[in-house]
Amino acid sequence: METLRHIVLFIHLIGFATLFGSWAVQAFGGKKQITGLMTVGLTIAGVAGLALAAPWGLPTGASINYAKIGTKLVILLIIGALLGIGSARQKRGDSVPPVLFWGVGVLTAVNAGIAAIW
Ligand code: HEM
Repeated sequence: METLRHIVLFIHLIGFATLFGSWAVQAFGGKKQITGLMTVGLTIAGVAGLALAAPWGLPTGASINYAKIGTKLVILLIIGALLGIGSARQKRGDSVPPVLFWGVGVLTAVNAGIAAIW
């Protein structure tokens, strides 16, 4: 079970890398647009994150920090809202407001920081 949990964590990290990587491509030298790959990464990170939020496959004596996970879930929902609003504006032919575009990258980094540091 512990190995399976590590595999789910690996999938969670692939989701994070997909989201942050696709955002970084747009941010640095790209058109600063919201892309479908960002939503794919967020979905992978979210589904695997929810699986990791349940207390299974933990080493003996280890416990889950629910405040930390709850905070990450709220931030994930905000990123999802930013992606949704951004892509809707793009479909209408409008540009994505900088605060919205940069918010996606900053909040993704914040979530990775919370995971690693809290
Ligand atoms: C954009 C959203 C997210 C990003 C960028 C992200 C990033 C990360 C990273 C980098 C790690 C590895 C840290 C380590 O192994 O110490 C991690 C672990 C983890 N994440 Fe996420 N995560 C996100 C969303 C979520 C969500 C929504 C949940 C749960 C509802 C979640 C639950 C977990 C859990 C349980 C772990 C295992 C290690 C720990 O307890 O922190 N994550 N996440």
